[in-house]
Amino acid sequence: MAQHKEQLPQQQPITKSSVIGVATPRIDGPLKTTGKAMYSSDHHFAELLYAWPVTATISSGTIQEMDTAVAEKMPGVIAIYSHETLGPLYRTPPAAGFSMIVDERRPPLEDKVVRYYGQYVAVAVAQTVEQARAAAEAVKVRYNQASLSIEDKLLGTALTTPSATEVTKRGNTANALKSSQVVHDAVYKIPTETHNPIELHASVAVYKDGKYTLYETSQAVVNHRDVMAAMLGVPPENVQVITRFLGSGFGGKLWPWPHALLAAACSRNLGRPVKLVVSRSMMFQSVGHRPAIDQRIQLAADTTGKMTAIQQDYVNHTSMLDDYDEGCGEATGFIYSCPNVLVTGGLARRNVGTPTSMRGPGAVPGLYALESAMDELAVKLKMDPVELRLKNEPEKDESTGLPFSSRHLKECLTTGAEKFGWARRNPAIGSMKNAEGMTIGWGVAACTWIAARTDSQATVDLLADGSARVVCGTQDIGGGTYTAIAQIVSHETGVPLHKVDVVLGDSALPPGPISGGSWATASVTPAVLEAAQKSTEAALAVAVKTPESPFHGKDAKTLEYAEGFVRVKDQPSTQVPVADIVRMAKLKSISGAGKSQGTLGDPNLKFSFHSYGAQFAEITWQPEIARLRVSRVVTVIDAGRMLNPKAARNQIEGAVVMGVGMAMLEATEYDPKSGAPINASLADYLVAVSADCPEIDVTFLDYPDYNLNPLGARGVGEIGLAGVAAAITNAVYHATGVRVRNLPVRIEDLL
Ligand code: MOS
Repeated sequence: MAQHKEQLPQQQPITKSSVIGVATPRIDGPLKTTGKAMYSSDHHFAELLYAWPVTATISSGTIQEMDTAVAEKMPGVIAIYSHETLGPLYRTPPAAGFSMIVDERRPPLEDKVVRYYGQYVAVAVAQTVEQARAAAEAVKVRYNQASLSIEDKLLGTALTTPSATEVTKRGNTANALKSSQVVHDAVYKIPTETHNPIELHASVAVYKDGKYTLYETSQAVVNHRDVMAAMLGVPPENVQVITRFLGSGFGGKLWPWPHALLAAACSRNLGRPVKLVVSRSMMFQSVGHRPAIDQRIQLAADTTGKMTAIQQDYVNHTSMLDDYDEGCGEATGFIYSCPNVLVTGGLARRNVGTPTSMRGPGAVPGLYALESAMDELAVKLKMDPVELRLKNEPEKDESTGLPFSSRHLKECLTTGAEKFGWARRNPAIGSMKNAEGMTIGWGVAACTWIAARTDSQATVDLLADGSARVVCGTQDIGGGTYTAIAQIVSHETGVPLHKVDVVLGDSALPPGPISGGSWATASVTPAVLEAAQKSTEAALAVAVKTPESPFHGKDAKTLEYAEGFVRVKDQPSTQVPVADIVRMAKLKSISGAGKSQGTLGDPNLKFSFHSYGAQFAEITWQPEIARLRVSRVVTVIDAGRMLNPKAARNQIEGAVVMGVGMAMLEATEYDPKSGAPINASLADYLVAVSADCPEIDVTFLDYPDYNLNPLGARGVGEIGLAGVAAAITNAVYHATGVRVRNLPVRIEDLL
């Protein structure tokens, strides 16, 4: 993504604030808890119709015959569309940066070919959702079945690329692995994991006079608009995408999926609004998943524990048509000091829906393998695993040669060790007991995640009633973007938090970042700050030009804006509320616009930007009743300045719980005969729930990273999941002596 970027002026760091850095309840909380927040599927219109897809019951083959006669005559049925009748849909041009991204490039119902179980083959539209579903189930489809590829062995199978690609390379790992004193070599496996946000994917499409208004469950409304426009074959200005609230997404809602195209095409064909809500079981089929991944990790060190080689070879599955690369080497090049590093990656095609980003793509599975291997290396070296990591701390980013902007991994490890009580750890297997006499195991893992910003714009309006309005074409996935933006505007304009109206989730707004990569906060910060600053500067300009204003005719340079007032510099007695200036000037508002550019993909960066952390886990093991629990997690996070420590803690706690799920419960199981994801429900696909929650202790080191943005904020979310599964499996080994390298840990592994 090397591209020239003009340099925008540096913004001054903001080090002190009475709003930023303060634990703040979500400003949208009351709307959510009172049911007033409009989620995408809550949108209702007169004449609304409901769509229900017909899904393939084979995972490889072609449609031989489709009989819709019975379904068409059922009560309330308006239409049944197949590949012959849905009408035109197009593929997208190649993605560029964060534009035109779609995981499944083939539009739904493009042809007769079926490549995964659950692929949409038709869609029923009816007056009610029950009628649409009944009609969809009454459509009879006969298939010509072809052989399918669903087997779970990935490393060593035929890759989509002739050979695996070298992702990261320095030195010569082959030589170092041959000549080093201590070597570890093992394969780590992660099964397919499925995103299970509480809110189902949904689309409500309203087509009128050639224009589409689409209420979508989208983590990226601007990209969603561009993709939908391209696939519907209309100009982008004819499409508006709205996502006011999200019941999370975990990456599954980053890019558009085929159901959105079905809803839009049905609305276009019928001239009426159409709602399509993806069922929970369909969410295991056609809206992405974290792919199954095999990783071979080879590590080498000298007898003092100084690392001499890291080699990581990974293969993840992808679908038959699309090339989804999990990027497991994300952290491998810079996390430790090591002269010889090689990461290779490859894809293996399977008859599954297209995989996608799932919370912490790349680094989360990558660090599960690497941090498990580090623990195994420490055992071989008879070295404490915290010590091993401290010993291999790099001075700079050895993958790029750049200095770290702000890296405190050592402090994460030492602080975590102290909070956890690591000094009391007896490394002998099965040697430690808790107060009730149960066997406990202690494990540790380091973690890291991307710190970046992407391009963003925003505008801020100061209004006559003393409120402020800020708009940005980003959206809030649920992590607290509304609140963070309000805090920045409140800080800069002096308008109290409860009087800041934040408008997000609309592709018609000035474009903002995706809610992904944990970089929305870092990305919107400079743009929102600049917009707010510009609005206060504009207030001074208006004040001197307005005849009714007491500042009329003065030089704007002699005025200042402070805490919501315009005044003569250093003369509080002269102050006039900015709202009065708006009224005196008979304006609707005084406005400012801000624009910032991204760091992601910038070839001229002067720093290596990443967040870091340490995860310490305790498991409790009762072999008599085969009961394994994660009892305690201490996590220390170095992710820049926390704009809202309350929301940030919430993010990390949630991520740790997800880590418990990853380590102990989560796996999508495919039937090897039909290719169906067979545990496609919340009853059968186990996610960690409250009863699975360990005691969680979260610490933020809170070192602002002013190289990234003027508030020093990097963002949190995904980093809390990274390393957790390895810390848990390392603890399981410490308690039981069993090294589980195939997630999730199953009781039968330990018997
Ligand atoms: Mo995240 S997987 O970038 O939504």
